[in-house]
Amino acid sequence: MPQVGRLAALLAVCCALLAASLSSSSGKGTLNLKLAKRGEYLVNSMGCGDCHTPMKMGPKGPEPDMTRMLSGHPKEMMLPASPISGPGPWVAAVSASFTAWAGPWGVSYTRNLTPDKETGLGDWTELNFIQTIRNGKHQGKGRDLLPPMPWQAFKNLTDDDLKAIFAYLRTIPPIKNAVPEPIPPAGPPPSGK
Ligand code: HEC
Repeated sequence: MPQVGRLAALLAVCCALLAASLSSSSGKGTLNLKLAKRGEYLVNSMGCGDCHTPMKMGPKGPEPDMTRMLSGHPKEMMLPASPISGPGPWVAAVSASFTAWAGPWGVSYTRNLTPDKETGLGDWTELNFIQTIRNGKHQGKGRDLLPPMPWQAFKNLTDDDLKAIFAYLRTIPPIKNAVPEPIPPAGPPPSGK
């Protein structure tokens, strides 16, 4: 009997400890979870995956390959030179994966948005992310972002929404995929000089 008593006492202590640790972390935990949930809703309704998740061919045409969710242009997908030349009337082309875009800007490849440390946004800060979307510059302060990344539309989001999107992107599976650097336009520079 005393053994049962001791066991009960031990259990009570364990429960108390567990409850204490849960309540001390749950404030922040719930907040982050809520933020990430809102981010998921935003990412899904704003179509980030249309360009950042590679498409594969399905019975009805291209469909997102969710095993590569938001991991950008697949590294191993080599493409011939841009088919776009001259002033139009067609000015842009897209790869079957919908992740490589050719136009007067050359060729752009959608970035890996997963939290992979080396090839994704793993070492980005929230501030990097907000500034990238607000300024339309690589990592917030580098080169100009290329089309068709719609940052001109997304820069109208509130800080809270951008934070939510970043929080969600932190929670998705990290995928190692080193997206190629963009290719500048071929041919002579624009006339005039
Ligand atoms: C219409 C296609 C398209 C859509 C939709 C799109 N992107 Fe992009 N995104 C791109 C392309 C292309 C690039 C690469 C641009 C470059 O290399 O300059 C890019 C690059 C990025 C980058 C990397 C910028 C950097 O500094 O390298 C981030 C972050 C990003 N997109 C986030 C998002 C988020 C978040 C969404 C949804 C809210 C989204 N994108 C929707 C096409 C798209």
